[in-house]
Amino acid sequence: MKEDLMFYSAYEDFYSMAARSAAFGEYCREAFGEDFSQDGFSDVSQINRIIKMLPERPETDILDIGCGNGKLLRYLRQKLSCRIFGFDYSENAIKTAKALNIADSDFRVGVSDDIIYPDESFDAVLSMDSIYFTNDMPKLIGKIFSWLKPNGIFIAGYEDGDVMPRTPSADTSVIAQSFRKNGIEYSYEDISEETYGMLCRKRETIQKYKSKFDKEGISMWYDVVLHQTDSVIKGYEDYHKNNAIKS
Ligand SMILES: C[S@@+](CC[C@H](N)C(=O)[O-])C[C@H]1O[C@@H](n2cnc3c(N)ncnc32)[C@H](O)[C@@H]1O
Repeated sequence: MKEDLMFYSAYEDFYSMAARSAAFGEYCREAFGEDFSQDGFSDVSQINRIIKMLPERPETDILDIGCGNGKLLRYLRQKLSCRIFGFDYSENAIKTAKALNIADSDFRVGVSDDIIYPDESFDAVLSMDSIYFTNDMPKLIGKIFSWLKPNGIFIAGYEDGDVMPRTPSADTSVIAQSFRKNGIEYSYEDISEETYGMLCRKRETIQKYKSKFDKEGISMWYDVVLHQTDSVIKGYEDYHKNNAIKS
């Protein structure tokens, strides 16, 4: 049952809050540069960098895995000539995504381990902070590559040691092992320094929004967001030791 999947009811509550809270939208815009209803770390500067990595084609078909309420895909649709596809297991998230009424969009409620798309459907597949929610990473990675058109690209924002166990190096991470099991070449970039800066900004911003969250009756989400940034309390050296990629 979907209700038994990791964090399912927490994400339903999160996207229900995001759909009705003005303060949360304002906080996202200030902390990340755009409101994508971020639960994770999709800062707009990272997304703009990802846009530059996408294949240059007259029409790009882009899938976002764990697309939440679709606002990140809406941003891509505004910046690029593309068709957008997204799935997420949260019904509340997909309800909001569909209500955005974006042209050339396809949003589905779906679970990473079960969802099916035809082979060679997409020029690019993105997964920001969401690829870990699977019981079989090698199988999911295999499926993603079957969905890509020739010379397509898969880009994942991945935090080793968050949902998946922290491993000794980038090449030992569960995602890297899964690429190798599928015979897929990969490269990676350590964005821990930039993520540290983003977390500091997130912490500073959420503290400014405490009274607005309280007024809207969403104080528990203030606590959740603040707690997500606890890793920066001890400063950069400590954060770097615990979070940077070891190559
Ligand atoms: C950490 S959030 C990231 C959301 C968004 N990609 C971002 O960068 O802000 C993880 C997302 O994955 C979704 N998710 C979690 N487990 C899932 C699963 N098994 N299948 C599909 N979506 C899932 C959640 O509802 C949530 O939207």
